[in-house]
Amino acid sequence: MSQSILVVIGGGNMGAALVGGLLESGAVAAPDVVVVEVVAARREVLGSMFPGVRVIDAFTPTDRCDAAIIAVKPPDAAVAAAVAVKAGARRVLSIAAGVTIATLEQACGRGVAVVRAMPNTPALVGAGASAIAGGNDATDVDIAWAESILGSVGIVVRVDESQLDAITGLTGSGPAYLFLVAESLIDAGVNAGLSRDMVEDLVRQLFVGSSQLLAQGRPPSDLRAQVTSPNGTTAAGIAVLEARALRAAFDEAVSAATRRSRELGS
Ligand SMILES: NC(=O)c1ccc[n+]([C@@H]2O[C@H](COP(=O)([O-])OP(=O)(O)OC[C@H]3O[C@@H](n4cnc5c(N)ncnc54)[C@H](OP(=O)(O)O)[C@@H]3O)[C@@H](O)[C@H]2O)c1
Repeated sequence: MSQSILVVIGGGNMGAALVGGLLESGAVAAPDVVVVEVVAARREVLGSMFPGVRVIDAFTPTDRCDAAIIAVKPPDAAVAAAVAVKAGARRVLSIAAGVTIATLEQACGRGVAVVRAMPNTPALVGAGASAIAGGNDATDVDIAWAESILGSVGIVVRVDESQLDAITGLTGSGPAYLFLVAESLIDAGVNAGLSRDMVEDLVRQLFVGSSQLLAQGRPPSDLRAQVTSPNGTTAAGIAVLEARALRAAFDEAVSAATRRSRELGS
């Protein structure tokens, strides 16, 4: 990717996470990256986060752009993609939730490789889970390019675009589901008479430790069984969660988020 200029349009949470991941992994060098960000205060932050990266408020006619990452809010994505193509982009990777490949291709015109992706916020700490789908003019090389960008901040799977709404509802929104579980456990600990400060530390570590166990690859059902002896304390707690239909609640939550992603895209 060296010597071609990668422009990131939108330097918010996700845009900055991608720039950070790319620089840290060495996939791109700072002088080959430009960030276009409309908010002045944010431009200052980005400038100090990424020394050597050009941070601008808009393209000027002399700016070069070989490839672009579209990291603005969904309603702004098509216009941002069109602006990038006008500046020369031949490849466009969009992470805007719900914005379809058809919409992006219409904005970009023929001959531009469009890749649509759904990352998630753990990308901010290099532990994201992303799915990508290529458009009509995206070759395997273009999709591998997008994969290497998102791969700098976590794992990437290739899917058909039709699966992206469900992935949005599962892993795109998923961090919020888990944070809700963390909030609920903290409140439960406080209700049980423990101090909030201590409970926050304990629950944070509960998630860190449990994630690390899960990351080792054993199925979650095995890990759960490991701490659930018959008629023991965990069994008593799990019985309540099952009786309250926790699994059905998550199933419905993912379906609702998937539907909403579809609605936003249409
Ligand atoms: N956060 C997530 O969990 C998540 C997960 C997957 C995908 N995404 C997608 O990632 C995209 C970015 O999300 P985010 O959380 O990083 O949003 P964000 O923090 O709001 O960042 C977007 C930034 O881009 C700026 N901007 C808007 N239009 C622009 C333009 N035309 N040129 C340059 N800068 C522009 C915004 O300014 P203003 O505030 O003035 O608009 C804002 O500072 C969204 O499309 C979202 O759907 C997010």
